[in-house]
Parts: sequence; C-alpha cells; structure tokens
Amino acid sequence: MTNVAIVGAGAMGHGIGYVTAIAGYTVTLTDVDEDVLERARAHIGLALDSGVMRGKVSEETRREAMGRISLSTNLEGAIDGAQVVIESAPEKLALKQDLFRRICVTAPRDALLATNTSSLSVSEIARATNCPERVVGMHFFNPVAAMKLVEVIRGAETSGESTGKAHAFAESLGKKAIVVRDTPGFATSRLGIVLGLEAMRMLEQGVASAADIDTAMELGYNHPVGPLRLTDIVGLDVRLAVADHLHASLGGDAFAAPAILREMVAAGHLGKKSGRGFYDWLTPQ
Ligand SMILES: NC(=O)c1ccc[n+]([C@@H]2O[C@H](COP(=O)([O-])OP(=O)(O)OC[C@H]3O[C@@H](n4cnc5c(N)ncnc54)[C@H](O)[C@@H]3O)[C@@H](O)[C@H]2O)c1
Repeated sequence: MTNVAIVGAGAMGHGIGYVTAIAGYTVTLTDVDEDVLERARAHIGLALDSGVMRGKVSEETRREAMGRISLSTNLEGAIDGAQVVIESAPEKLALKQDLFRRICVTAPRDALLATNTSSLSVSEIARATNCPERVVGMHFFNPVAAMKLVEVIRGAETSGESTGKAHAFAESLGKKAIVVRDTPGFATSRLGIVLGLEAMRMLEQGVASAADIDTAMELGYNHPVGPLRLTDIVGLDVRLAVADHLHASLGGDAFAAPAILREMVAAGHLGKKSGRGFYDWLTPQ
C-alpha cells in the first residue's frame, strides 16, 4: 500500500495527509476547492517546518514528504491507482454515499476504502454502493498528528479483510487502532458524551463548581482535560447535537441532554468559539 488518496482536504484531510506523507506514502489530496488544496499543502509544510524546528523531523524527511504530496480537483484521477482511499468530506450522508459510489467504481479492486465519518453509519454509507464489503470506517481524531487513536469501524457488510487492512494501515501511521462494530457514537463519542452530560447534571445540582468537577477527573483519573472544559473546546452545540443523536438512536437516560446544555446553546454560549461556555474564554486567566 503505497499510494494514498485523501478525498476532502479540510481540517481533517490535511492532517491525515501530513501523517501519511511523513510515514512514507505517496499522497494525493483531492477536493472540490482548489484554494483548500493549496491551503492544505501549506498547512502540511508549516507542520513539517515546526517539526524540523523542534528537532522531531529531519530536513531530508521534510523535503521527501513534501515531494510525495500532489493535489487534484479530479476525484477519479486521484483515486485511480490508489491502494488506500480515505474520504474526509463534510459530514453529510448523501454526499458520502455519492462519493463512495464513485470510489467503488474507479478505485482498484484491492484498494482499502475508508471513511473518516465521526457519527454517520458506515453501513448506511456502504449500502449505497456496489462494494459494501470494502467500505470501512477509519475515525481519526483532531489534531491528527497528535492524537494516537484511530477507531476502525466495521459496517454490517464490511469484510474481515477490509477491517484488517484498515487496522494495519492505521498502525503503519504510528497510530493505535481499535475495532468497533458500527453502532451510534462508536466507542469514543458514546462514552465521552456520557461523562460530559453527567458533569453538567452535577453542575446543575450544585455538586461542585465547573473547575472542581474538571479537576476531579484531571487529577483523580488522569484525564488531560476535564469533561466541561472539553465541552467548551468541542462546542456546546456540537455536543448537544451528538447527545440528541445518541438519545434518539440508543435511548436511555444517560444520553438525555440536561436543561443547562439546551439553555446555554439557546443563549449562544457555545464555549471557546463564542467566548463563553462553562468557562469565560475572553478574560485572560
Ligand atoms: N473536525 C473534527 O474534529 C473531526 C474529527 C474526526 C472526524 N471528522 C470527520 O471528518 C470529515 C471532515 O471533517 P472536517 O472537519 O475536515 O471538514 P472540513 O469542512 O474542514 O473539510 C471537508 C472538505 O471536504 C471538501 N469537499 C466537499 N465536497 C467534496 C467532494 N464532493 N469531493 C471532495 N471534497 C469535497 C470541502 O471543500 C472541504 O475542504 C467529516 O466526516 C467529519 O465528521 C472531523
């Protein structure tokens, strides 16, 4: 597996481009927007520069990695001849189904075909194609270079061979891969959201302050960031959407969004991006 095509070169696509290029693969980034492609290449260059400055990347690795990256607005041209195709286009089911219909027709028969969806059903994406056994989820985390985990999602019809290829490819990038059956929230969102929502319920009930609830998990459980600060970073609106999706699909009180979350979202307190959430992000701490 030497040629990798990445479909969608936005926030995640260029991060995946960086880790694949540095791992020695030849990478074609493809996107509908030429400016996005140029920005993606520039971002990868900056990340490599920063690696060189910190002594983590040699000048030679930087030069070779940049030399292995090419850009294309032509999807079919980019995936024809790829051994690995990773789709990282916007989180819209119909768009991903359409892309995979095209990818199944054009990509070589033995290519690994993966979607970086963070919440959609891999089985539903795959079902729209004529090669559902080849479509697998590879859920990377943001920022891709720093985050060690890749969730490999096995759809209802994904073959063991495709799952194995995705696992091996993730590990070849220096990541730790786990295999999860295609279920709402996979493993990460399903567990992470419960912790976040329960922390909000504790805040509502006056159990402790937001900072103390976060400190409890940071120092008591060694979490790098507490659940409320993490919610501020992710965005309260994003977490509410995930909670509602999981509540609708899995049921159970654990996924029911607490009133405090709905009220804060309605008031525009979305966390870091709006300047206010469970913390004040505008006043220097
Ligand atoms: N942002 C995150 O933290 C994160 C984390 C894990 C997974 N994801 C998932 O990764 C995927 C991409 O998310 P993102 O945050 O990088 O989004 P983004 O909006 O930054 O990038 C998506 C890119 O896809 C391009 N695109 C749109 N239609 C296309 C098409 N038909 N063909 C090719 N490219 C097309 C857009 O021009 C854009 O550059 C989503 O499925 C998302 O759920 C995101």
